[in-house]
Amino acid sequence: MFLVAVHSSRLGPATGGTRMMAYPSLDDARSDAMRLAGAMTYKWAAADFPRGGGKAVIALPSAPLTPAERTGLLRRYGTFLRELSGRFWTGGDVGTSSADMDVIAESGAPYVFSRTPERGGAGGSGSWTARGVFAAIETVCGRLFGEASPRGRSVVVQGAGSVGASLIERLVAAGARVSWSDPSPTAAARLSVHAALARVAPDRCLDAEADLFAPCALGRVLSAETIPGLRTRAVVGAANDQLAEPEDAARLRDRGILYAPDFVVNAGGAVAITGIEALGWSAARAEREVDRIGETLSRVFAAADREGLTTEAAARRLAEERLRAGRSQEGR
Ligand code: PHE
Repeated sequence: MFLVAVHSSRLGPATGGTRMMAYPSLDDARSDAMRLAGAMTYKWAAADFPRGGGKAVIALPSAPLTPAERTGLLRRYGTFLRELSGRFWTGGDVGTSSADMDVIAESGAPYVFSRTPERGGAGGSGSWTARGVFAAIETVCGRLFGEASPRGRSVVVQGAGSVGASLIERLVAAGARVSWSDPSPTAAARLSVHAALARVAPDRCLDAEADLFAPCALGRVLSAETIPGLRTRAVVGAANDQLAEPEDAARLRDRGILYAPDFVVNAGGAVAITGIEALGWSAARAEREVDRIGETLSRVFAAADREGLTTEAAARRLAEERLRAGRSQEGR
C-alpha cells in the first residue's frame, strides 16, 4: 500500500522522504503520513528552502518480503510517483536507503532524490542530517553551558540508524560522553566506535540521566507519560514528529527542559540533498546551508524568550511567517 500525503506546495513542489515499514493498521499509516507531511512543510519553511511539505509511506505487510518482492514493490511505487507527475518528489526516510532510491528512480525519475553517487545522485541523507543536529547541539550547549562544544557533556542518543550512527561518531570525535540505544541486534556493527560506548536498554533511554537527549529513531517519544521521567537538560535530536501532542511543548518547558524543535533541527538531510540535486549546490555550499541550522535555532530560542512562547511555538511562528511571505526572495 502506497500513501502519499501532500500538505502544502506554497513554497515549492511538495517534497519529503518515503518511509517504509509495517504499521499496526492502515489508520496508523495514514496518520503518520499526514503528520510527517505537515512536519515537512514546517521544515522547509523554517530552513527557508523553496519546497513544500509532503511525505510518502509504503505500508508493509507484517510478514517480511523476499528481496524480489521488495524490488517489485519499489518499482511499482516508482511508476506511481511518475503518474503523480511532479506533485510529489521524494528521498529516503526510515526503512529506505539510497540503493532503494536507485530502484524507485528506474521508473520514478526525475522525482527521486538521494540516489547513490554511482547512479548520479547525492547519496544518502543521514550524515547531512547528523551534521545539522550537531550544529543544533552546539547552539543548545552554548545556551545551557556557555560553551558551544559538547566536549565532556553526556548525551544519550536514541537510535543508531543512518542519522543516529553518524551523530554518535561526530559527538565522540568532539569529546562528548555518549551512550546510545537501539533495539536492533545488528546496530552495534554500524558504529566504528561502539566498543568504547555505553549501550542503554531501549526502554531506559527516556529516563537515563544525561545533559542532552537526542531522539534519532521514531516519533512521538515525548508525551505526558515520558516527559515526567526525563532526566536531561535538553532534547535535541533528529527524529521527526517528536511531540506526541502539542501540549508536550509546555510540559517540557514546565520541567525546565530546553526543547530544540525537531523540524528545525533535522532539516539538514533534506536541505543538503535537495540543494545539491535540484539547485546545483556544491558540497561546500550544502555544508554552509546545513550549518545555518545552528543560527536558526538561536533565533528560535531568542524569539521564545522575548515573546514568552514555547520553543515549539516560536519555531512554528518563524515557519508560518515564511509561509505567509511565499517563496524565498533570497535568490535560491
Ligand atoms: N528523510 C528526510 C526528512 O525527514 C526527507 C528527505 C531526504 C527529503 C532526502 C529529501 C531528500 O527530512
